[in-house]
Amino acid sequence: MAYLTGKTALVTGASRGIGRAIAQRLAADGALVAVHYGSNDAAARETVLAIEQAGGQAFAVRAELGRPGDVDTLFAGLTVGLGERPLDILVNNAAIGAPIPVEKTTPELFERVFAVNVQAPFFIIQRALPLLRDGGRIINISSSATRIAMPEIAYAMTKGAVDVLGRSLANTVGDRGITVNTVAPGVTETDMNAWLRDLPEAKAGIAGATALGRVGQPEDIADVVAFLASDQARWVTGHLLEATGGIFLGPRM
Ligand SMILES: NC(=O)c1ccc[n+]([C@@H]2O[C@H](COP(=O)([O-])OP(=O)(O)OC[C@H]3O[C@@H](n4cnc5c(N)ncnc54)[C@H](OP(=O)(O)O)[C@@H]3O)[C@@H](O)[C@H]2O)c1
Repeated sequence: MAYLTGKTALVTGASRGIGRAIAQRLAADGALVAVHYGSNDAAARETVLAIEQAGGQAFAVRAELGRPGDVDTLFAGLTVGLGERPLDILVNNAAIGAPIPVEKTTPELFERVFAVNVQAPFFIIQRALPLLRDGGRIINISSSATRIAMPEIAYAMTKGAVDVLGRSLANTVGDRGITVNTVAPGVTETDMNAWLRDLPEAKAGIAGATALGRVGQPEDIADVVAFLASDQARWVTGHLLEATGGIFLGPRM
């Protein structure tokens, strides 16, 4: 029997990229997965279909984060899909990039990236806590941008907030047996990094600066999330786990 059989999971931003891989992996492990997304109905349908074709269970929930009422919309869809069942696993994965240097960052863009990447996961957690079964899992997706200095400072700052959220929250929900961990991907081949497809020389540069010699794939991150969601990780909480293949660890000879 798959080890998440009988469990439920909500994965935000699961229509594409890393979130889709996480949803597919948790469903393959037996969970009923709520595939949350913002606007791309076709991509969400594809994720749900791929899960069902592999013998898993999933349903889609549309809610654009960073807009008024976003969390209400998300939880209305989630509770319909779950029926009477509690939630076992929450993966806060949805986020937007802000590939803009400091001098070009407007207050509107700054506000938007914090609304989607920080405010939304905070209030999703607040709303999820009463639904979460004791012994449940919260996994937040951060970024190696909190370790490596990059020009996209506003985006990196949002992920710094996500790191702090994980550590502090772990300390407050531990008495319910809920673990809270953070996974920080490095450069991973998704739509967020479309330049990897268009610029082979840039992709080779990233691979060259990575200890394991390639760029990340969504499944590399999904496997780490699956570990943290499993009983094998029951004694791990408040932890930040980098899944980067060892990007920018230092000079490579
Ligand atoms: N890719 C990387 O190299 C990398 C590196 C470090 C960290 N990360 C982190 O990994 C996570 C996933 O990134 P990714 O590369 O897989 O992203 P992606 O390919 O751009 O996919 C983003 C997902 O989030 C959803 N989403 C985006 N904005 C949303 C909003 N306002 N409301 C609701 N849903 C929204 C999208 O839904 P729609 O399909 O409906 O638009 C989609 O499902 C993010 O937290 C990102 O910061 C990524």
